[in-house]
Amino acid sequence: MTHPTQQIADTSAPTGAGLVLDDVSLTLGDGDSTVTALDHVHLTVAPGELLAVLGPSGAGKSSLLAVAGALTRPTSGTVRIDGADISALPSSGQAALRRERIGFVFQSGNLLPALTALDQLRFALHVSGGKDRGRDPQTLLEQVGMGHKAGRRPHELSGGERQRVGIARALVTAPALLLVDEPTAALDRARSHEVVRLLAAETHEHGVATVMVTHDHDVLEHCDRVVHMEDGRLSA
Ligand SMILES: Nc1ncnc2c1ncn2[C@@H]1O[C@H](COP(=O)(O)OP(=O)(O)O)[C@@H](O)[C@H]1O
Ligand SMILES: [Mg+2]
Repeated sequence: MTHPTQQIADTSAPTGAGLVLDDVSLTLGDGDSTVTALDHVHLTVAPGELLAVLGPSGAGKSSLLAVAGALTRPTSGTVRIDGADISALPSSGQAALRRERIGFVFQSGNLLPALTALDQLRFALHVSGGKDRGRDPQTLLEQVGMGHKAGRRPHELSGGERQRVGIARALVTAPALLLVDEPTAALDRARSHEVVRLLAAETHEHGVATVMVTHDHDVLEHCDRVVHMEDGRLSA
């Protein structure tokens, strides 16, 4: 039995750093009620690039993140992360890849209620097993402006603070790919700008390929590129 990390390494190709979706389609539902969530999507996100995906509810934005993050297998097409074809990996290899190479940030931070901010990061690092590539949890909390609240639990933090911890947790394993679903949906205008500015800085400084789904036109100024999604299709 090959170690999952080895499976990832074995499928790596030298070409195509970052995220590449090639002709990806996703059909959901069954029988007579199927939905085309993704319709022949082509997308490249380079290392160090923050891409914003705009679109109405039901457009397929979360489906795009699920397929890019190896949470859902596409019905057709290929998904590559740093050249590795993740659609070809077995489920165990996909899970290892998610833990080691991909960071997820959700709308409300999705923190574990019982853990302090620092332990959220330590736990993520522990689960990934990626201690060598990882960043120091306390230092990273300081970099996102949360060093002084490292001992606080989620209920002792504001929405913006929880989101900062969620971003730090996603970055602690030094992922190649960061997938962010509506990070500012629960935040006021000033906090929204802070959070997306932070995402942009981390993306640029650490060469992460970042995809951020948003409804928030206000924060697009911090993004490198914007694409629109409607009925499962992407346009510039
Ligand atoms: N598990 C599912 N089964 C069937 N249809 C789904 C499922 N998840 C999402 N959909 C449908 O797929 C389409 C895209 O959904 P989604 O990716 O969540 O859009 P968005 O994030 O842009 O709101 C929608 O029509 C939605 O109703
Ligand atoms: Mg969604």
